[in-house]
Amino acid sequence: MYDVYRIREDFPVLREVVYLDSAATSQKPVQVAEAVQEYFTRYCGNYGRGAHRLSRRTTEKYEDARETVAGFFGINPRCTVFTRNTTESINMVALGLDWKKGDHVITTVVEHHSNLLPWIRLQEKGVEVTVVDSDMHGIVTAEAIEKAITDKTRLIAVTHVSNFFGAAQDIKAVARIAKKHGIMLLIDAAQSAGEIPLNLDEIGCDFAAMPGHKGLLGPQGTGILYVREPERLQPVFVGGGTVQKVTTGSFTFDEIPSRFEYGTPNIPGIIGLGRGVEYVKAMGVENIEAHVNRLARECARRLAEIPQVELYGPDNRVSLTSFNVENINPHDVAMILDETKKICVRSGQHCAQTALARLCIAGSVRASFACYSTMEEVDLLARSVEAIAKSFS
Ligand SMILES: Cc1ncc(COP(=O)(O)O)c(C=O)c1O
Repeated sequence: MYDVYRIREDFPVLREVVYLDSAATSQKPVQVAEAVQEYFTRYCGNYGRGAHRLSRRTTEKYEDARETVAGFFGINPRCTVFTRNTTESINMVALGLDWKKGDHVITTVVEHHSNLLPWIRLQEKGVEVTVVDSDMHGIVTAEAIEKAITDKTRLIAVTHVSNFFGAAQDIKAVARIAKKHGIMLLIDAAQSAGEIPLNLDEIGCDFAAMPGHKGLLGPQGTGILYVREPERLQPVFVGGGTVQKVTTGSFTFDEIPSRFEYGTPNIPGIIGLGRGVEYVKAMGVENIEAHVNRLARECARRLAEIPQVELYGPDNRVSLTSFNVENINPHDVAMILDETKKICVRSGQHCAQTALARLCIAGSVRASFACYSTMEEVDLLARSVEAIAKSFS
């Protein structure tokens, strides 16, 4: 049985605050902190650089983390590239594919800036970009994406779960369409990795970009890029760690995935990420999914009872609830929640300006939930928002 109170014992910071900002970054269990500390205090060396015991042990642990992550997503470790964050993963695809003038990319209006700007910027290379609209709840249908396809379309880049609406897209349907038309598909799984079961091989996407630091409970400064056919992608950065043979005038790339992991990587972070993924696996990602969705939907139900509150997102929202309180700036709501109840929520534009523009709003408050969040926290948030709403109306 899923025992959230037992889980919370592994997250000491939760004794201090009501943390409802896990969509920005998650809290970490002590097991992750211990794995990072063990690296620093017991075997700190560089990765893949040298024959001595510390370097060997470091390399082994780093590669263990890759095996763990790859196993979790049903993919080949060779196709599993460690990065710094989701943003870097997406940019590596946008900058690493061989674009021709007139190529066409499809993305959507609900994207986080990290899955919009890299594609918009390709316009400088003559690539055309179509931004498909959503409905008022942030849902983009697979049919709308299919309609935007032209004979020049090379890639569809779509988020799995919107970080503002909490709307989950039907990525399996999008993957079927991409396959039918022979188009590459990139999934931004920033808000679903670790909170929705994802078998990337089965889904059949070409690329998936994920943070290590949200649902997978890894340290900040870690990310993942899944590349189904790594030979198709050129490394964006070259230098130490990416090459085999170097002369004064040329070089040959290292094996995959090393050729994509330039310089000294975030070794403690990746080792911690491996431990985070083990922790998620032990809880069961299906259990986490059911838990966070129940909290987000109950949160929405409670907030909807407050007349001054406007809610965003679909009824079957996933893991988060965005809202505004009449007559109050979202930052003020967040500040009051923090100062009066130590409730940490996100406020502002959520790096999703086009999604907010879709609703003609300038910002919102967002409460987001993780494996360690509780119904008591939802209740406290709802009561606190109600009190704020009353005092300002
Ligand atoms: C949907 C989505 N995509 C991309 C990102 C960027 O993630 P990162 O900070 O790991 O680059 C986020 C971060 O909140 C996100 O929610």
